[in-house]
Amino acid sequence: MPTILITGCSSGFGLETARCFLGRDWTVVASMRSPREDMLPASEHLRIIPLDVTDPESIARAVHAAGPIDVLVNNAGVGVLNALEGVSMASIRQLFETNTLGAIAMTQAVLPQFRERRSGVVVNVSSAVTIMPLPLLSVYTASKAAVNAFTESLALELEAFNVRVRLVIPGRAPDTRFGENAQHLMGEGFPEPYAALAQQIFAGMQQSSDVTRAQDVAEAVWLAVNDPASPMRLFAGADAVAMAASVQK
Ligand SMILES: NC(=O)c1ccc[n+]([C@@H]2O[C@H](COP(=O)([O-])OP(=O)(O)OC[C@H]3O[C@@H](n4cnc5c(N)ncnc54)[C@H](OP(=O)(O)O)[C@@H]3O)[C@@H](O)[C@H]2O)c1
Repeated sequence: MPTILITGCSSGFGLETARCFLGRDWTVVASMRSPREDMLPASEHLRIIPLDVTDPESIARAVHAAGPIDVLVNNAGVGVLNALEGVSMASIRQLFETNTLGAIAMTQAVLPQFRERRSGVVVNVSSAVTIMPLPLLSVYTASKAAVNAFTESLALELEAFNVRVRLVIPGRAPDTRFGENAQHLMGEGFPEPYAALAQQIFAGMQQSSDVTRAQDVAEAVWLAVNDPASPMRLFAGADAVAMAASVQK
């Protein structure tokens, strides 16, 4: 039975991806910053381990505790929605530590076993904002665009070792805890000169009917992992699929 290690399983896409693989006869190592045993159905094929992707010691302990794995999913991430002038450099650093350097560090930590075994898959969860830029998301977009570039270069480097690397690119998912979790990095509201723009952006979001569901992301991860012919970029959610189609025109 193959084993998958997923980061950020306490909610949203990570939790749903863990549920999906558990239900399809995989061994799941679900990692969480603050582990909770009651989030997923009890199973002999489930292990829940602590992991903060910004902490090198936590990463080393988690990779050791997980043991041999076949797949790593870098899902843990945080958001920031604000004008650049409204975000502190401390928050920006924290965001990159999680979204970008966290994914890179986790990948680096599991690669020796994948390379030696000449098999393994890394799936990095990015965002559709990287294909269609929006205002007030410059820092978040930069952190995920770096993940895209990292993934696409690394994929070439690892081809000879039969290690696959893929991007899952979700659209906007209002049902996860993403918006709530973004609050602590967002600063004290929007700087006044950007208030009108912020209102306009929020109004636009209310109007858009297509959204991404956590199941869309879990299915895209499933495809990335199980179909060696899957494309490098898998768009997850009706809005992300529509955005990708419109930029390809
Ligand atoms: N929701 C969207 O609209 C959307 C759209 C496109 C892409 N994404 C991306 O999809 C991924 C999952 O987001 P989501 O919507 O499922 O949001 P979510 O419900 O907030 O889940 C994010 C997860 O990441 C974890 N996390 C945050 N910082 C961490 C750290 N330092 N170490 C380990 N885990 C950490 C959170 O754990 P805690 O409970 O400990 O905070 C949580 O489990 C993120 O990478 C996000 O950028 C989201």
